[in-house]
Amino acid sequence: MTACGLLVAFPVQGRAVPQAAGITATSQQVAYGVTLYKQRCGACHNTPSRSLDEAPLLAGSAFAQKWLSRPAVLFQKIRYSMPQDNPGTLSDEEAIALVAALASGSISGKAPAK
Ligand code: HEC
Repeated sequence: MTACGLLVAFPVQGRAVPQAAGITATSQQVAYGVTLYKQRCGACHNTPSRSLDEAPLLAGSAFAQKWLSRPAVLFQKIRYSMPQDNPGTLSDEEAIALVAALASGSISGKAPAK
């Protein structure tokens, strides 16, 4: 997929990462990220059947403060340590789409992700 669309990218340690809390993403990126989230993240995150101590809630104000304020850090966390049972398997495009989906508020902390 030809990801970066409207995303303004800037280099951090030589890697392109999505810019910023005023995250600009295309609706396709958000939709793609939501789909990926359901496939690759929802089994652990944001599902009522799982302990949220184990896999933190990726929504709400604490998440926004800790992560959405630093999207480059969020990108790296997702790209290199998630999914926890298979880290490093996401492409840059996939990790960017996931950041876009999380930032868009399309992924509720309360509803099951699938
Ligand atoms: C096998 C279960 C599992 C899967 C699948 C998984 N995660 Fe996680 N995730 C965890 C656990 C456990 C933690 C807490 C420990 C840590 O930070 O590594 C975590 C932490 C995180 C954090 C940091 C949250 C915080 O508040 O500290 C983010 C962001 C995240 N995951 C994103 C994702 C994304 C995006 C996906 C899908 C690509 C994903 N995870 C898939 C288990 C999982």
